[in-house]
Amino acid sequence: MIFIVLPCLVLLYILLINFLYELFCAKEKSVQEKHVVVIGGSSGIGKAFACLAAQKGAHVTIIARNEDRLRLAVEEIKKDRLNDSQRTKSISLDVSDYDQVNGCLLSLDDELPIYMLMNCAGLAICGIIEDVSEENVKKMFDVNYYGTHNAIKTLVPRFKTRKEGHIVLTGSQASLLGIYGYTTYAATKFALRGLAEALAMELKHYNIHVTLALPPDTNTPGFQEENKSKPEETRLITESAGIYQPKTVAQAILKDVLKGSFFSYIGMESFLLTTLCVGMTSHRKYYELAYHCILLGPFKLISSFYLGNFHKIINDCAKKNKKAD
Ligand SMILES: NC(=O)c1ccc[n+]([C@@H]2O[C@H](COP(=O)([O-])OP(=O)(O)OC[C@H]3O[C@@H](n4cnc5c(N)ncnc54)[C@H](OP(=O)(O)O)[C@@H]3O)[C@@H](O)[C@H]2O)c1
Repeated sequence: MIFIVLPCLVLLYILLINFLYELFCAKEKSVQEKHVVVIGGSSGIGKAFACLAAQKGAHVTIIARNEDRLRLAVEEIKKDRLNDSQRTKSISLDVSDYDQVNGCLLSLDDELPIYMLMNCAGLAICGIIEDVSEENVKKMFDVNYYGTHNAIKTLVPRFKTRKEGHIVLTGSQASLLGIYGYTTYAATKFALRGLAEALAMELKHYNIHVTLALPPDTNTPGFQEENKSKPEETRLITESAGIYQPKTVAQAILKDVLKGSFFSYIGMESFLLTTLCVGMTSHRKYYELAYHCILLGPFKLISSFYLGNFHKIINDCAKKNKKAD
């Protein structure tokens, strides 16, 4: 008995020390005087991320289409700088156009080498599959997937040459779980997970870190827009996780990026979902591997209650709609 219990206790002790060290002593990387580029940085989560990078001493460039919003965002970011020597810049372009993105990012990198690329441009148009127009399907793939792909493809060779860099892809909880009313949106965000996972494997030995951010519902202009097309079923299923402020989400993402985490999530439900869907993504620390091994079974059980509730919501809505017909 002692030969089983003792090694288990030693293992638990090592994992606990590992966890506590990570929590209280591990040093985060710094973005001070580094160039951080935020695509989709004129609004919502991207803007909050850009402000935070400025607060931490970074040179910040934001990219989006609408020039007025970009100007206003730059004013906000300037106020958050630690000192006046930090550069702030905005560029107006459509991220879904590869040639535009390629030309712009390469010249930006020539001006001031880019250390961190945060891809945050994206949109959600909800609806069950037959209700989303082909035009909107294309729009979501163009911005959410190709927009991210275009920027990463452009900068990876530069990051490889310098043997450093951080790449952030903004997915969603819908990168891990397909939900009623998110047929197209979830497909674009699942695609980002595949891209992020393969990239992380391709780039690890170049000291380039990849983070897939999985924001929960966040109170942004984009979220207000999404709500206009959201079916009742989708709203009822997603609202149990609550709504977060962009600043809180941006803080969690930047912290995870600087720690070198692959997934960035926030909140208990996201922890449950991310642990459930961890698959073969590499663990950063042994305690992570340990809690994944321990929690996967119980979390699978808990998830079946969630799933039961989702199907109940969908059935109830179907009955209600039938009565109304
Ligand atoms: N908010 C949420 O609840 C939530 C939850 C999960 C995931 N997310 C993801 O988080 C990201 C940011 O969402 P958000 O809610 O912060 O959105 P948001 O407030 O609408 O901001 C989106 C940003 O992307 C830019 N953008 C959109 N299309 C673009 C294009 N074609 N080219 C260049 N820039 C473009 C927008 O500026 P212009 O329109 O001027 O171009 C804006 O700066 C998205 O990928 C979204 O899917 C959000």
